Amino acid sequence: MPAQDSRFDLQNLHADTLLVHGGTMRSSFGELSEGLFLTQGFAYDTMEAAEARFNGEDPGFIYSRFSNPTVSMFERRMALHEGAEAARATASGMAAVTAALMGQVKAGDHVVAARALFGSCRYIVEDLLPRFGVASTLVDGTDLDQWRSAVRPNTKVFVLESPTNPTLEVIDIAAVAAIAHDAKAKLVVDNVLATPMHQKPLRLGADCVVYSATKHIDGQGRCLGGVILGSEQFIADHVHNLLRQTGPAISPFNAWVLLKGLETLSLRVERQSRTAARVADTLAELPGIGRVIYPGRADHPQHALAQRQMASGGTMVAFEVKGGKAGAFAFGNRLRIVKISNNLGDAKSIVTHPATTTHQRLSPADRAQLGITDGMLRLSVGLEHPDDLLADFVQAGRG
Ligand SMILES: Cc1ncc(COP(=O)(O)O)c(C=O)c1O
Repeated sequence: MPAQDSRFDLQNLHADTLLVHGGTMRSSFGELSEGLFLTQGFAYDTMEAAEARFNGEDPGFIYSRFSNPTVSMFERRMALHEGAEAARATASGMAAVTAALMGQVKAGDHVVAARALFGSCRYIVEDLLPRFGVASTLVDGTDLDQWRSAVRPNTKVFVLESPTNPTLEVIDIAAVAAIAHDAKAKLVVDNVLATPMHQKPLRLGADCVVYSATKHIDGQGRCLGGVILGSEQFIADHVHNLLRQTGPAISPFNAWVLLKGLETLSLRVERQSRTAARVADTLAELPGIGRVIYPGRADHPQHALAQRQMASGGTMVAFEVKGGKAGAFAFGNRLRIVKISNNLGDAKSIVTHPATTTHQRLSPADRAQLGITDGMLRLSVGLEHPDDLLADFVQAGRG
């Protein structure tokens, strides 16, 4: 089994150092960069060794659906950085969300979710769970009374995303965690938009954090991946067996890409957030733009909470273009550097029209309730030079 680097006490190191070294295991070759173990299984020296591996006497690897050295390094690095006891990687962010929710409930249970969830997450809560006898209630996540009054005797899980996608509402994680725990329910937080750099839901009382690693963790649009983080107990009780037996395993190759992505996460996210703040201010000055939503701006409805709960305003900006869908399409089509796509957290700046893409599955009434208007664009700010990006928005705004 590859050896963990034991020369430093990882608990006492800064985040940037953990993101470079955390979880590294080296094979007998002593490779500097993390090894890519692109293997589905492992060979044993003897029959007795195989038996010992299977009965747990020898803690080595068995099969890459269960665990794999490259995947384990990624999980360990994520756990150290998040301040979680345990982590499990999955094939995509949606595999992580699905397992984190399905692993906690059975027929007859009830889930409460903030209404402003990413479309596929809403599908899990609204459509998939009820098919298996798990009821769900959607609430306005910013209204704590709605969380309280949604609780039923059989409520097992609360789930939220903050900031929300795409309207960038900020939900009070500590307050919702307290309501969940009063109800003996667990809180799952989808921390994708905040990034692991800017928000630590476990410290705020959440029981489980999920990521689409496809986003900032890769950060260069190369591969899909997901992570579930929580206490050893949470992972053992709700996640470990479900993943092992149902098999939404991440490819070791993708885990390796994500592991290398973590090395630069802090630099990228810091730069993207600084640029996002400038972009938000520039957009707010353009005559064709009606409203700019950025948690780091003083005019954001939950700005004070965002300052308390997040280390920065984040890498995402939402804004309304005057003229509805036609105005938003025309503005998006005029952008030259910013790409039209639906990923986020990427090195490349990306603009998305949520009403016709990521959130088109919702009815117009549901979109209106969430504040997703036809004129809204969601922007993921990348790593281009800030001046080039600002110039691109100014020229697009000129019409
Ligand atoms: C907030 C949020 N959660 C979950 C997901 C799902 O992640 P993935 O595409 O990696 O399955 C996404 C994006 O797709 C997202 O934006």
